[in-house]
Amino acid sequence: MLRFMNTLCFATLPGDGIGPEVVDVSLRVLKALADKRNFNFETSYHDVGGIGIDNHESALPESTLIACRQSDAILFGSVGGPKWENLAPDKQPERAALLPLRREFELFANLRPGTLYPELSGISPLRSDIVKRGIDVLCVRELTGGIYFGKPKTRKILANKETLAIDTMTYQTKEIERIIEVAVQAASLRSGRLCSVDKANVLETSILWRQVVSEHVARIDPSIELSHMYVDNAAMQLVRDPNQFDVIVTENMFGDILSDELAVICGSLGMLASASLGADRNSMGLPFGLYEPAGGTAPDIAGKDVANPCAQILSAALMLRYSFGMEEEAETIESAVKQTIRAGFRTIDVAQGGKSIGTQEMGQAIIDHLG
Ligand code: IPM
Ligand code: MG
Repeated sequence: MLRFMNTLCFATLPGDGIGPEVVDVSLRVLKALADKRNFNFETSYHDVGGIGIDNHESALPESTLIACRQSDAILFGSVGGPKWENLAPDKQPERAALLPLRREFELFANLRPGTLYPELSGISPLRSDIVKRGIDVLCVRELTGGIYFGKPKTRKILANKETLAIDTMTYQTKEIERIIEVAVQAASLRSGRLCSVDKANVLETSILWRQVVSEHVARIDPSIELSHMYVDNAAMQLVRDPNQFDVIVTENMFGDILSDELAVICGSLGMLASASLGADRNSMGLPFGLYEPAGGTAPDIAGKDVANPCAQILSAALMLRYSFGMEEEAETIESAVKQTIRAGFRTIDVAQGGKSIGTQEMGQAIIDHLG
């Protein structure tokens, strides 16, 4: 293979709060792996979120968008913080950066693995008998449709002077089919079990969702063990017995809520990665994607070298897997994180009152476990 074929090109958007410091550690891990495995990467840094507002008067500056368009993937930190909390909701960094990015790159498939290593089962708020063997559930969330983006989305004053606000939930067959394809593929690489979550006892979109899911799964992979569950029941079952699920697939709003629930039962947001895959292919012929940790900016601990870098590092691993087709390298990072935890290294969020180390040190421990 020619040397230049081994160069990965992605845009780095560190954002706010702990974003820059955990992104920095994740790039150190990537660099260490690249040196071991004989590949290169090229990346450039761009403002997004609050720092975008401060430096360019936009949470998603045009220069950042251009850089993303020229890349094969986006490594994203996190956005938001108290400094920008008083802005109008649609100007707040989270919404004004993330939603336009999802729309611009049609990032329709959001993969949120909920993983709790058995060694950390004590950090879950769930009873120890429920989680003693850890948790391993993948939530596949549709990310560019439903009530987030449906039109009309508006507010009006009625004749009686009441204010009416409207959000609209829409789904088309093809939007459901494409997310199901991602979920089916993920399920077939795991246990083959897929649970589709909807509200088909009430919502028209959910009735269509359930029908399309059943027909499409039967068409593309009849070996998948498919089940359907109403969202209220799913929310309950997740805390009752999370491991009854393997892969969950659901629409945008339900996925937003269930993935937070899954995150909290896994104990620390500092451990959870995510991938948002686009409809378009990158220059490698693989999905363009945005990779970000689940945890947010944690402004209270920003700049103190205490944040857990694992979620960001695991997000970089997902980037290798999905946008660069580097399964082995992705697994190497994931297994290094697991071994590091197994060896007893902990940042404060997962230390359960025991000895803890800082962000940089945790990154170094993971690099030392790269094998
Ligand atoms: C998420 C977040 C976003 C969402 C917000 C910040 C717009 O909660 O990624 O889950 O609702 O999708
Ligand atoms: Mg959310």
